[in-house]
Amino acid sequence: MNERTFQEGVRAILPDRASSSGAEVLVTGSSGLVGRALLERLSQRGQRGTRMVRSQASEGDVLWDPVGGMIADSLGSADAVVHLAGENIADGRWTRSKMVAIRDSRVRGTRLLAENLARLETPPAVLVSASAIGFYGDRGDELLTEGSTSGTGFLAEVCEQWESATEPARAAGIRVVRLRIGVVLARGGGALAKMLTPFRLGLGGKLGSGDQYMSWIALDDVVSAICAALDDERIEGAVNATAPQPVTNRELTKTLGKVLRRPTIAAMPGLVARAAFGRMADELLLASIRVSPEKLLAHGFAFAEPRLEGALRSILGTDR
Ligand SMILES: NC(=O)c1ccc[n+]([C@@H]2O[C@H](COP(=O)([O-])OP(=O)(O)OC[C@H]3O[C@@H](n4cnc5c(N)ncnc54)[C@H](OP(=O)(O)O)[C@@H]3O)[C@@H](O)[C@H]2O)c1
Repeated sequence: MNERTFQEGVRAILPDRASSSGAEVLVTGSSGLVGRALLERLSQRGQRGTRMVRSQASEGDVLWDPVGGMIADSLGSADAVVHLAGENIADGRWTRSKMVAIRDSRVRGTRLLAENLARLETPPAVLVSASAIGFYGDRGDELLTEGSTSGTGFLAEVCEQWESATEPARAAGIRVVRLRIGVVLARGGGALAKMLTPFRLGLGGKLGSGDQYMSWIALDDVVSAICAALDDERIEGAVNATAPQPVTNRELTKTLGKVLRRPTIAAMPGLVARAAFGRMADELLLASIRVSPEKLLAHGFAFAEPRLEGALRSILGTDR
């Protein structure tokens, strides 16, 4: 039995140590990549994950319309809240209406949630609200910590407004953690799933110069970081959720090719990426964001997957 299988086995038998974040955790965006994995982990920890859904509510779910400004049910029983909802930023071209949806789903939805939590007679102890490393903008090889300034560009502006929208909850005394999540690596979705087909066909290669940094995190670790933020009362404010070793696009390309045993010579110049993906190319594919998870490390957070090659091998199930 390898180390990972052993750890998963232990986790399945023994839920995490009794959680200090209470029995009921309200989760928005629960149908997404991170939300699905979080609900599974909460159940392993013996906590109840109550889904806040936009349609097709089942018994026990809370129905809401984050953009329209409606929450149909009471939020009163939640001990903690994890807010992950937002229009997907990597699916489809960034048309004007897509960009409005990216911003409004986050800024309006977060404000609606924060204001409603702030009004509760017994508010939850903690709100963990997703943000993204896009907060920092395109910054070359500058090492970015939670103390770094915000950047420029569409995503940086959205992230700043998204984070500010949590303010009513903080002002009401709720501990707010703004989790600046890096590129989540998982088998079943997100950036890695999109890269797998071209790389498996031997059509993978660096994007643009290949010098741009990508700050990544394995799905399992992002879920653990959310749980740490729920449990550890010392964690507050902005928190970078990225692995401690960000890589350049060139290193990512080389490592994924090595893990899949495929050549990676089919580079895509920046001009071609811009023609294919429009504005999204500059902000998502060609931007360089080199982030350090200073706060998580300072609080003793142990990454299960600190290095890219190990993370890719365990996610993809490939041997050395
Ligand atoms: N995955 C990454 O690499 C990454 C990186 C940085 C930051 N993040 C952030 O972390 C959060 C979770 O990421 P994820 O990868 O799990 O996202 P995801 O797979 O795109 O899921 C997001 C969820 O948000 C809800 N949603 C979708 N469109 C919406 C809209 N227009 N308005 C309101 N809610 C909408 C949906 O849940 P319901 O249908 O259940 O409402 C959806 O499942 C997101 O806010 C994302 O921006 C993710």
